[in-house]
Amino acid sequence: MNRFLDAPNTEPERQEYFIERGRELLNNIETRIGRKLTCCVTTFGCQMNARDSEKLLGILEKMGYVSTESEKADLVIFNTCSVRENADNRVFGRLGILSNYKKKNPHMKIGICGCMMQEEHIVEKINKSYPYVDIMFGTHNIHVLAELVVKNLIEDHKVIDIWEEAEGIVEDLPVDRKYSFKSGINITFGCNNFCSYCIVPYVRGRERSRSPKAIIREIEKLVADGVVEVMLLGQNVNSYGKGLEDEISFPDLLREVDKIEGLKRIRFMTPHPKDLSDDLIDAIAESKHVCHHIHLPLQSGSSDILRKMNRRYDKEKYLGIVDKIRERIPDCAITTDIIVGFPGETEEDFMETMDVVQKVGYDSAFTFQYSKRTGTPAAKMDNQVPQEVVTDRFNRLLKEVQTIARAKTKKLEGQVMPVLCETVNTESEGLMTGRLENNSVVHFKGDETMIGEIFNVRLDEANGFYYMGSIVE
Ligand code: 5AD
Ligand code: SF4
Repeated sequence: MNRFLDAPNTEPERQEYFIERGRELLNNIETRIGRKLTCCVTTFGCQMNARDSEKLLGILEKMGYVSTESEKADLVIFNTCSVRENADNRVFGRLGILSNYKKKNPHMKIGICGCMMQEEHIVEKINKSYPYVDIMFGTHNIHVLAELVVKNLIEDHKVIDIWEEAEGIVEDLPVDRKYSFKSGINITFGCNNFCSYCIVPYVRGRERSRSPKAIIREIEKLVADGVVEVMLLGQNVNSYGKGLEDEISFPDLLREVDKIEGLKRIRFMTPHPKDLSDDLIDAIAESKHVCHHIHLPLQSGSSDILRKMNRRYDKEKYLGIVDKIRERIPDCAITTDIIVGFPGETEEDFMETMDVVQKVGYDSAFTFQYSKRTGTPAAKMDNQVPQEVVTDRFNRLLKEVQTIARAKTKKLEGQVMPVLCETVNTESEGLMTGRLENNSVVHFKGDETMIGEIFNVRLDEANGFYYMGSIVE
């Protein structure tokens, strides 16, 4: 673009330049129309996307947009997820609704980004069926948002910029955190595991680790800004540090983060069972602030299905890890993800999953029906399981998972435990909502001034999956 010949070629300087140009453009429009321009970023999917959305919002606010929850805003961005088909469908449905808003607001712009944009057939579909979308970009270039918005505002035609792969990691761009007291921190991007059902390695690219220095510096800044809890994010945190100039293991990163003064809780997501080391269990057990909660995706309890899923562990290995965790950290909550209806799953395979669920006794579990993802090896496998069989197994699994989780919750009834006060309870006046170290939700009396602080709370009553509690002086 010769119009921007003076734009720097290095990042983040280039984006700082476009943020400034954007600010001028927005100012002009706002003077002309006599009001501020608003923006809304809607997140679909996982914690990674939630963190990306905070970065998108940070950039837009720095350009001068006022953020709003309403999708009638002047700039609406959908940050999409492609992990299961129903996520795709929700995006298409919501895009349809946006077209009505756009007809009424001549200033409205629509952007789409995230995992769905890394799939060619989806981009084609949006171009064909949703031509009113103004800006499309992918997972590897969220940092260039200001540049894309400026180009769209000036040239007034659709801007599509989707990268095949990442070009290094851009640090130091603005971020607008959703919560004042807790934050996600990316430690790795992408995934090299290629589980046969999963689209993530194709849409998020190869695994890259951020340098420990950048991570520690970011957390220190966050703590100075009032953050007391961090969630270290990666598709497989266990492989953190591979390929860095000074290789460092994930347990050693945890040990470093644990030393940061002022930080009260450290969480991480997600470890892969295939390489969950004894050293990691030690690091958690010996730490001061790492929460006693491990989310350990099972996916299936059948060794045969696990092999077809390319998970690289079997039922025995998984149960062995759980035993080690229980031995070393007896109060550790264990949660999981399970898929039912993977191609070729028999009733016997499913019963193996139920067996693991019973043996482990998960504190909670996310259960999913297998969703066929174009481009993954599993999509081409024979013996796709009929929907009615999947539904039946799913319901049986859900019932079992819920029964066990309820009993687990009940066990802590009557105890006094530290709770981080997180949000105002929107359903009952005068109540606040917080979390135990094991991630369970607790409601208790209080007010907004308590957000971000840890209180000792008696868990008076276990109500299914949450507690009603009262603060103990
Ligand atoms: N179908 C169903 N569930 C899936 N997941 C990932 N891919 C699929 C798929 N194709 C689930 C896995 C993973 C979680 C984030 O989403 O359980 O751990
Ligand atoms: Fe998908 Fe497997 Fe990578 Fe997780 S580890 S993102 S399930 S490929």
